[in-house]
Amino acid sequence: MNVLGIETSCDETGVAVYDTRTGLRTHAVYSQIALHAQYGGVVPELASRDHVRKLLPLIRQTLADSGLAIRDLDGVAYTAGPGLVGALLVGAGVARSLAWALDVPAIAVHHMEGHLLAPLMDDPAQREALHAGRAPEPFVALLVSGGHTQLVGVEGVGRYRLLGETLDDAAGEAFDKTAKMMGLPYPGGPQLAAIAEHGRPGAFTFSRPMTDRPGLDFSFSGLKTQVLLAWKAADGTDATRADIARGFEDAVVETLAIKCDRALQATGYRRLVVAGGVGANRRLRARLAELATRRGAVVGFPPPVLCTDNGAMIAFAGALRLQAGQQAGMEVHVTPRWDMATLPPVVIGESQQVG
Ligand code: KG4
Ligand code: ZN
Repeated sequence: MNVLGIETSCDETGVAVYDTRTGLRTHAVYSQIALHAQYGGVVPELASRDHVRKLLPLIRQTLADSGLAIRDLDGVAYTAGPGLVGALLVGAGVARSLAWALDVPAIAVHHMEGHLLAPLMDDPAQREALHAGRAPEPFVALLVSGGHTQLVGVEGVGRYRLLGETLDDAAGEAFDKTAKMMGLPYPGGPQLAAIAEHGRPGAFTFSRPMTDRPGLDFSFSGLKTQVLLAWKAADGTDATRADIARGFEDAVVETLAIKCDRALQATGYRRLVVAGGVGANRRLRARLAELATRRGAVVGFPPPVLCTDNGAMIAFAGALRLQAGQQAGMEVHVTPRWDMATLPPVVIGESQQVG
């Protein structure tokens, strides 16, 4: 089954073709970073208009790269939420129309489910099990993006148990806001991580929020304030900025690691997967790999390009649901706020209309 995946929930236009027999055929992402940079953040209306401009050419290019003709598609998956309503409507409108014109099913995909399942796409054994309708080995997923920070217990596709989440800022949001405070250009997260590479560990130490009490929730807004105070009191040189960035990154990474450790302990699962944009962070990857080894567990990360927003994860999650007989109705419907716990589980051999 060849599934086209379309992602337009925020400021990246992502398109991919996923083949349920052989895996990801091709994917392409067009980033709107340059467009929004001058405003210091994503401008929703500009994002929608840019998706309108870029989506069809990107679909044509991706199909050409995949060696398939449009008629070879067996289904179309699109991000239906959560995200910016106008941006989502562009992808949903195109996906729904294309599926209708080709007379193939369409499936509405939850953006965070896309992130959550993305690491499995790269793991042949898990991928094969999922396509064969077998449940994956249960795992703890750390979802760390610009809008979410969650620990989720996963027992199957659509069988998600929220173990903990942020009470205020998401980890990526904290990276972005902290970077902005220190004068780094948008999008700050990756830039802050890059300059932290030159910082001295321990030159600045910030607290590890909510690690001194039991539980799996997070809070990152206080950390951001601590950094602001340190930055205002500092000399403003590049070297100090790098030291502060390193202190901030270490605090976030350590906090996430402590909670992942607790989640593995609480669930008894021996597998941890990390997904979402912050999963591209090198220090986080190294720290979690070390933690997993110490625990006798396995940690899985998608390659960095599949951590940040992309169409491949949407094609993959959509393919799993389409294979199980689920499909969206004919209307163009998006869900800008959408609780992942409300997703239907995938039950092989059962046809369902969802979304
Ligand atoms: O998953 P994603 O691409 O989009 C959302 O769904 O939010 O995540 C974007 C977030 C941004 O906050 C960005 O700053 C952060 O991921 N991010 C990083 C890194 N790369 C992206 N944060 C820390 N280190 C990185 N290397
Ligand atoms: Zn995302």
